[in-house]
Amino acid sequence: MQMFFKEGLARIGKFTTPHGDIETPTVMPVINPNLNFLSKEELKSIGVQAVITNSYIIKRTASLEQEALKNGVHRLINFDGPIMTDSGTFQSYVYGDIEYGNREIVEFQKKIGSDIITILDIFTKPQDSYDQAKAAVYETYRRLKEVNTEDSIIAGPIQGSIYPDLRVESAKMMSEASYLPIGGVVPLLESYRYSDLVNIIINSKVNSDFSKPVHLFGGGHPMFFAFSVLLGVDIFDSASYIKYAKDNRVLYTEGTRNLKEIRDFPEWSPLFNKYSPAELIKADEKTRLKLLSMHNLKAIFNEITEIKERIYENTLYQYVEEKSMAHPALYSAYLEMLNHNIKPYWNLSLKSPLYFFNSMTYKNIFIRRLMDFTESYISNGKKTLLINYKQWRHGFPVSSEIINSYETTDYNFLVQWNDIFIPIELENTYPVSQMVSSGILDHGYTESYVNWLKSINSSIQSYNSSICGDSRIRRYTHTKINTVFKFQFHTEKDLFKESDFIVKSRATGHIRNIKRDDKIIATMRNDGFLTLSIYGGLLLNNIIPFPHSRVMVSPDSGEFNSQGYNVFFKFIEGCDNDILPGNEVMVTDLQGNLFAVGHATVSGKEMKYYRDGIAVKVHEGINKL
Ligand code: GUN
Repeated sequence: MQMFFKEGLARIGKFTTPHGDIETPTVMPVINPNLNFLSKEELKSIGVQAVITNSYIIKRTASLEQEALKNGVHRLINFDGPIMTDSGTFQSYVYGDIEYGNREIVEFQKKIGSDIITILDIFTKPQDSYDQAKAAVYETYRRLKEVNTEDSIIAGPIQGSIYPDLRVESAKMMSEASYLPIGGVVPLLESYRYSDLVNIIINSKVNSDFSKPVHLFGGGHPMFFAFSVLLGVDIFDSASYIKYAKDNRVLYTEGTRNLKEIRDFPEWSPLFNKYSPAELIKADEKTRLKLLSMHNLKAIFNEITEIKERIYENTLYQYVEEKSMAHPALYSAYLEMLNHNIKPYWNLSLKSPLYFFNSMTYKNIFIRRLMDFTESYISNGKKTLLINYKQWRHGFPVSSEIINSYETTDYNFLVQWNDIFIPIELENTYPVSQMVSSGILDHGYTESYVNWLKSINSSIQSYNSSICGDSRIRRYTHTKINTVFKFQFHTEKDLFKESDFIVKSRATGHIRNIKRDDKIIATMRNDGFLTLSIYGGLLLNNIIPFPHSRVMVSPDSGEFNSQGYNVFFKFIEGCDNDILPGNEVMVTDLQGNLFAVGHATVSGKEMKYYRDGIAVKVHEGINKL
């Protein structure tokens, strides 16, 4: 699939099927072939792009089977867009063994023209023993291998119950399929075991092929959509819109209400101003079921629309943070998510500012990166000075007193930012100045943070203006750009020399670009990070050991990129695994000869998987020199 926008593991993408493209994230409503009461026009008016139905139910019912074989599944359920078919695994989990085998049900799905065909996987239950779950994972993989995957899109479910290593193993094996549902999660969703789900989704996602769509089987309640998408789920299916309608339950993003207990339908509902809840209660059952199903489906798609907008503006993480307060089970899922190392997939910076709520925010990925850097920054054993708020005045230019101390000593200068201390040179680097803070501070946190700093560097003391040396031994702005460089490129080396010329904005005093011999080396972006010119790329190529910060491409692509054109995924021959989305990279050949500089669209861990689309947005090619 193709990726257009991303925030961490969340993406807006496109997946192509024989009956059209699916823009993700999205939901496939479950269509019961026996009870198909929403027309394709009604479905499409709500935003439905694709649906899922069950091939086992079709095959088991003689009249449906015959019609599907004769006219195809699209005519059978009267939907002309992409249709996914499930295999009967879930029925076998609920009712026991079913009468068809894997190859038989897969062949049947092919014959009826399904766009996405599901193998008969083995459902792993949360209470399965490790050995049971392991056997199911291997049998599911065997079943994938026994079907012909060449001529169709085959869904290979990732199983493994709640055992992390089995999910990892299953994700790696099932990546041979072209579509990756995460299976065996319905009982967890139904019992609000969202923390377990977080573990399952992360283990499945980061160990599978990133170019393939990930589907959460049965994850149809909007309450958990934002979490799932943030962790890399692209597609959901939902039967809940009908199930709730049957129980007279009205769906909202945060939960459900009883039809008998609401005054009115919300403005976004297709029923708003057309029917009152009282009228619906009096209506006949068929009408009520249809209308409530429409409403419920709309609630589901509202949430998808919001999530897509959030990815686009880079506020999905924040949205999940907000959502985590909607239910205690979501809050524990949020905490569980923070225990995972998902930093390698997260962008270098986001378009939106970081919201600082309270000390919980220190678990945020961007702040963790700052803390990691602070740790290495003070590990040089040099004296380290702590500058408090009043002395620093965040957002104002650094005072001449502090500059004087800084330039006449070679100490480490840490400034107070919320409850923590960070290197002064990162004052303009995301998220330090791109932050909206509640101002709610936690002195206990500061105390333990300072103790942590002392455990790394024993010569920590408070700053005062009398601390200074006899002569100027360094310049603040030069050390600042080199510190930003070290933070951004994960290196101990300097890129800039004392003799380089720093151009500042007259209006704001902010650094604009850095020049050597009239040639621009780098420009400072709005997020306080550096964009390299091709000249800067050549300097970087000499400093940083191969293959760090490099994307290696084929010679044909290199020629093209040398002229300033973007790098496409399919020409990539290797890359540094630690590249962050949005960070600067050098485009080189396998020997390290430079073709271009640009910024990566995905992380190094994802880069080798995609085949379609742009991997590096090139700023300048070597031919420019
Ligand atoms: N529907 C809900 N869960 C599952 C699952 O694990 N496998 C299949 N094939 N369908 C499902």
